[in-house]
Amino acid sequence: MTWIIANWKMQGSVSALRAFAEGLVPLVSTLSRVQVVVCVPFPYLLLARDMFQGTGVFWGAQDVSPLSNGPHTGDVSAAMLQDVGATHVIVGHSERRRDHGERGAWVHDKALAAKAHGIVPILCVGEAEGQTQRVITRQVHEALGEDGALAGSLMAYEPLWAIGTGKTADGATIATMHRHIAHIAPHHPVLYGGSVTADNVGTIVNLPHVSGVLVGGASVRMETFAPLLLAAHKARESA
Ligand code: PGA
Repeated sequence: MTWIIANWKMQGSVSALRAFAEGLVPLVSTLSRVQVVVCVPFPYLLLARDMFQGTGVFWGAQDVSPLSNGPHTGDVSAAMLQDVGATHVIVGHSERRRDHGERGAWVHDKALAAKAHGIVPILCVGEAEGQTQRVITRQVHEALGEDGALAGSLMAYEPLWAIGTGKTADGATIATMHRHIAHIAPHHPVLYGGSVTADNVGTIVNLPHVSGVLVGGASVRMETFAPLLLAAHKARESA
């Protein structure tokens, strides 16, 4: 099964999610090779539950607090995500690292909180332009910690220079980085993210050590997401 995670980021609306779901649900029922998870902004999680419950589409969030319910104004706990049926949560995305200074133990603790509530963390790592594999190694170790408590969580390799730029990493780079992550983090499926589209997804999902994709820009409207899903399904079928 190939994971296709839609990361809506800070985009969407009630009407956009309704229209999206009305297109997605009938399509997904015909695609046996992909598992879709739609990660929406917090205000739309309940609507996602209404639209996706019982359909085979999963829904998730883009951040979670490492803290338990209590006096933490503006934060959203893993218990709340569980309460609205979220199955996955993106943790440590580079945009959160950039905008909110998230890193290290904070990312690890968020993932632990999610896991403790039965929610699968999607731990994001990625290097900036000019940085080397050592950055990835450090981020993976920081995110996973030493105790194996996050076994089974998903990883996502998203080079910063490929996010939202149209400059997808080439197959050799993706294969090298994924082999590296698989080596230092065995038992964690690794997704690729960074300008994934209908045109390149078929090649990417068939690369070694790639278990799926995390899709930003192309995931917000069915005009771009439907062809992407079809291409991924077809590529896996012929693999
Ligand atoms: P993009 O975003 O597909 O728009 O490059 C991917 C991501 O940031 O998860």
